[in-house]
Amino acid sequence: MRQAGAVTRPPTAEHTGGPVRAPSAPAAGRVTSPAPVPLPAGSGDDEAAVRTTGLTKRFRSGQVAVDHVDLLVPRGAVYGFLGPNGSGKTTTIRMLLGLVRPTSGEVQVLGARMPEDADRVLPHVGALVEGPGFQPYLSARANLARIDAADRTVDPRTSRARAEAALERVGLSAAADKRFRQYSLGMKQRLGLAAALLRPRSLLVLDEPTNGLDPQGTREVRTLIRELAADGTTVLVSSHLLAEIEQVCTHIGIMSRGHLVRQGARAEIADPSEARVVVTTPTAQAPAASAVLSGLGLTVQRTTDTGVEALLGDVPPAQVTAALVGAGVDVEGLAVRTPSLEQVFVELTGEGFDVAR
Ligand SMILES: Nc1ncnc2c1ncn2[C@@H]1O[C@H](COP(=O)(O)OP(=O)(O)O)[C@@H](O)[C@H]1O
Ligand SMILES: [Mg+2]
Repeated sequence: MRQAGAVTRPPTAEHTGGPVRAPSAPAAGRVTSPAPVPLPAGSGDDEAAVRTTGLTKRFRSGQVAVDHVDLLVPRGAVYGFLGPNGSGKTTTIRMLLGLVRPTSGEVQVLGARMPEDADRVLPHVGALVEGPGFQPYLSARANLARIDAADRTVDPRTSRARAEAALERVGLSAAADKRFRQYSLGMKQRLGLAAALLRPRSLLVLDEPTNGLDPQGTREVRTLIRELAADGTTVLVSSHLLAEIEQVCTHIGIMSRGHLVRQGARAEIADPSEARVVVTTPTAQAPAASAVLSGLGLTVQRTTDTGVEALLGDVPPAQVTAALVGAGVDVEGLAVRTPSLEQVFVELTGEGFDVAR
């Protein structure tokens, strides 16, 4: 597993046992998420699972890794926290979990203040962040038992069922008796997920959960996130690889050099008002098609041998089709393209997603 930066606390929140009692043990085979124990009302800010205001971290080196970030993760969202390596995702996540103290700014998690209310909040938060936390010479099963035992808010009699269910859920049952040190990076990631899933959570914070996983493992993690979200769990998931998590996200935040440069519902991020219509016609009819689109008020961007491309604006695609056909243009194809999230990202950060440090 990757090495931690500044902190030596284990990666999961299990060790912070608070006063809240856990709900009854989950059924073996699948960790269901029955209504997690409700938190006492904090600030009354109920629709946000996570909210930060002006969150800033300046390391001793003088580097500002996180710079006035206002994060807003609505309850029930699957929030994709995206950005190239080194953009400040992990540092932000560590501050959310009380693992790193902010230089300035405020953090609210599940309506309570962090790090002040950590003991009360963290039992409701499952976390997978880089760092130590597993014993290399213990098996996966024994490691989970150890973490579970450290959680004073759960019933020790149902520990085994919890561990088995979590192992099953991440596909590690068959390898449960293997020592941690013999695990591949992908298996370690899975075990980290299992630890986060030992009990039902209101919020899951997963820092690059697909790191080290092969495509099949990555698909499984996506499926897991979907299932958890369907059960009502809010998920904050970071990645430097857009394609790996884009499909499961309802909301997206994009980090670049410590700044949160864009945030919002998935559909709003790739701005639909920038949609283009691409009309395919016989060569001879391209100028006529272009004239029809201009007549509708569209901004024609290109006329080629195979057709016309124009900014769609507010005009419904069906109206474009009808106007073209009405003008006698042979429409061989008509496609509407919205800018992909990848294009938006590259525009905002000037970098591809795969930038190595
Ligand atoms: N403990 C630390 N001390 C000094 N600099 C750090 C520390 N942790 C991270 N950084 C720096 O802060 C920046 C953001 O890092 P990080 O939050 O890990 O980004 P990401 O998770 O997006 O890859 C990087 O330039 C990194 O080198
Ligand atoms: Mg990181």
